[in-house]
Amino acid sequence: KEIFLKDYKQPDYLFETVHLKFTLGEEKTIVSSKIVVYPGLEGSSSPLVLDGVDLKLISLKVDGKEPKEDDFCVDSRHLTLYSPPSGKFTLDIVTEIYPQKNTSLEGLYKSSGNFCTQCEAEGFRKITFYQDRPDIMAKYTCHIEADKSLYPVLLSNGNLIEQGEMEGNKHYAIWEDPFVKPSYLFALVAGQLESRDDTFITRSGRKVSLRIWTPAQDLPKTVHAMYSLKAAMKWDEDVFGLEYDLDLFNIVAVPDFNMGAMENKSLNIFNSKLVLASPETATDADYAAILGVIGHEYFHNWTGNRVTCRDWFQLSLKEGLTVFRDQEFSSDMGSRTVKRIADVSTLRTYQFPQDAGPMAHPVRPHSYIKMDNFYTVTVYEKGAEVVRMYKTLLGASGFRKGMDLYFERHDGQAVTCEDFFAAMRDANGADMSNFLLWYSQAGTPRLNVVSAYDAQAKTFSLKFSQEVPPSPGQLVKEPMFIPVALGLLGSNGKDMPLSSVYHDGKLESIAINGQPVHTTVLRVTKKEEEFVFTDIPERPVPSILRGYSAPVRMDSDLTDADLYFLLANDSDEFNRWEAGQVLARKLMLSLVADFQQNKPLTLNSQFLHGIRSILCDLSLDKEFIGKAITLPTEAEIMDIMEVADPDAVHAVRTFIRKELASGLKQELLDTVKSNRSSEEYVFNHLNMARRALKNIALAYLGSLDDPEITELALHEYSTATNMTDQFAALVALDQKPGKTRDDILADFYNKWQHDFLVVNKWLALQAMADIPGNVENVRKLLDHPAFDLRNPNKVYALVGGFCRSPVNFHAKDGSGYKFLGEMVVQLDKLNPQVASRMVSSFSRWKRYDETRQNLAKAQLEMILAANGLSENVFEIASKSLSA
Ligand code: ARG
Ligand code: ZN
Repeated sequence: KEIFLKDYKQPDYLFETVHLKFTLGEEKTIVSSKIVVYPGLEGSSSPLVLDGVDLKLISLKVDGKEPKEDDFCVDSRHLTLYSPPSGKFTLDIVTEIYPQKNTSLEGLYKSSGNFCTQCEAEGFRKITFYQDRPDIMAKYTCHIEADKSLYPVLLSNGNLIEQGEMEGNKHYAIWEDPFVKPSYLFALVAGQLESRDDTFITRSGRKVSLRIWTPAQDLPKTVHAMYSLKAAMKWDEDVFGLEYDLDLFNIVAVPDFNMGAMENKSLNIFNSKLVLASPETATDADYAAILGVIGHEYFHNWTGNRVTCRDWFQLSLKEGLTVFRDQEFSSDMGSRTVKRIADVSTLRTYQFPQDAGPMAHPVRPHSYIKMDNFYTVTVYEKGAEVVRMYKTLLGASGFRKGMDLYFERHDGQAVTCEDFFAAMRDANGADMSNFLLWYSQAGTPRLNVVSAYDAQAKTFSLKFSQEVPPSPGQLVKEPMFIPVALGLLGSNGKDMPLSSVYHDGKLESIAINGQPVHTTVLRVTKKEEEFVFTDIPERPVPSILRGYSAPVRMDSDLTDADLYFLLANDSDEFNRWEAGQVLARKLMLSLVADFQQNKPLTLNSQFLHGIRSILCDLSLDKEFIGKAITLPTEAEIMDIMEVADPDAVHAVRTFIRKELASGLKQELLDTVKSNRSSEEYVFNHLNMARRALKNIALAYLGSLDDPEITELALHEYSTATNMTDQFAALVALDQKPGKTRDDILADFYNKWQHDFLVVNKWLALQAMADIPGNVENVRKLLDHPAFDLRNPNKVYALVGGFCRSPVNFHAKDGSGYKFLGEMVVQLDKLNPQVASRMVSSFSRWKRYDETRQNLAKAQLEMILAANGLSENVFEIASKSLSA
């Protein structure tokens, strides 16, 4: 059933308090809930409908009395009370559930012998009957009873107010959360866990106990998570003035988790891969992800929990904003430019294709069948770009004023994206024009820029035109409000001072406090619009969309010479990188065309020189160099082609990598050698940047058929003292099928078979291999003892990894599609959320040639014909087919 934003209605009944009691057992768990209900607006006589899925109703009482048979009804999704009392009343509901059989990992389930919950978005209804929607905010207490030896630790939200022993080797704990919250933030954990403890003293002097819970043997791997948590708490105080609001903050790591992590009030639950790290077992990328996600979930305490969403269509209100906050946090902890580059790459590689395909939806979707399908790169990443645009338009202090007003107005409420917009606008008295369209129009806007210099008049003009492509259900679009951060470079490579611009026939000052600026933010709001800069002494090279100031696809009339000039000189480091990427995209597209016409491939020597000069520029940040010498991904190139051709794109990218590696072999070898270090692993920007550059150089070299390089990589592998370096050497050796590869993969497995997270890297690496016919190897790995279809991380590693090799997933014999089709049907029976993530790999099937289209379509049809298909998979598969 499809749900629509336009159908939102305020609830007729509200909940004041909820007392939950869990009797956790091996065969069954009993959940008793006592809810104080009161009428919404004014006394309504409508039925009270509670959500409930997979529940066995044991008893029901209204104001202490059992209702009559025909006063209520239970179906597979609801419990309906036809005529509840008119004033305040109490509901007592007892249900029975079976967490040990719950493979969906939604609601209450068991993971490695421990109980845990995941309620967002609509998992609470699998625990008890409830109005499971975020605008129902209530105060909770949670009483947990369980066996003392099996479940020595009992956790829930808020403060522990009582605990004690019971008969029969049982014990109990009672938790009370003083803050109102929606049901999706409820959490419970029970099991054999130990904690790393620390404290954080807030700015106003509150002493907060911090505890990170894992099985005992993993405790040593929580040092970095604790560091990250404390850094996040400090950062939110410094940057947003936001403090933690309870005396206890718990994080629990579990190995079976559908997503990354969950911000339950004071009891965050994490996928263990986003908590556990040691230098020997986790890479720099893992360390960085942990920092970002620990920050993200912590930041939700204000942006998500204290102020939450009125309904699930508003998801980006909390997710876009919180992603923006975690991006800023990571920027401040490392390199801002490099973080920005990484985030923009993610957007281009994953979000742009979504925005151009059958699942395209606005940042605030208009409808959904299954909400879980809308935890997307559009809601999260594009949503974060939308928040970033407020900051670009209002400036850092204006943005902060807007945030302050947002909390002042809405603390303790469930609100909408308009409320956030209004706070930003009102706090700054700003004219935000048609900015709200960013929430309602799907599709990536195309922005075209044409420039002209008039030497006589000394003016430089930029003509912008924009278009938003049609998307499912939205064929005609309005022009968007696009903030374009811009600088003009003179022939000396420096930014020209800018003080005024003609716009709409009026001369506008862009000076700040009477001072000319080097970067200005143009507000492009119309389909076509011209800006003319005055007093420009020579033809400048424009640096447009600095810092990627809006999530658009931009085309401009910049020449290759202009782009090389920007690559060498732009004061905006993001745009230096971007200039290199534009050049690389152009080059790759033209080589793809050559490849398709069977022409010999040759690499333009200017490109090689450009890469060499970046690689050898000692003044540059090493992580920046690493990013700047990395070619756009295959996915990114396929996304900008008329008909995506995975074989051609792969051949071309491989060709360029090899040409660069042989042309720059000496420089790359020097880079590897001069960036080694025998010092102890440290997680900081300089060391990570050094390792990143060394390992990118090594990966380039690994593309050569050269025994000297094999020796080098084997040496790097065996001398590595941390996983970053060891895995990078493995990746370098992984590129060439043969005995060396087989041996080293076997060696790696033998070393790490006891470590679930490292074994997942090993699975993913093999799954992603571009080796022809790799699907057979992947099928074999399904039977490997290290694999388990019930564990999402393993599925994402092996099945998800496989789909990330375009040549194999899109193999022309259909073998990749067939494999995925089979996996989706199997997975759907166990875990619909995971199955639905996997089926999404099919969604852009129309981008390929006819042969591939037919093969993919056949799999989608096969999936849709499967018995008992989940709504999750149904939604993605059917929308993919019908678009
Ligand atoms: N709110 C979580 C986060 O921090 C994600 C929850 C995802 N849940 C889901 N059913 N998809 O981003
Ligand atoms: Zn989130």
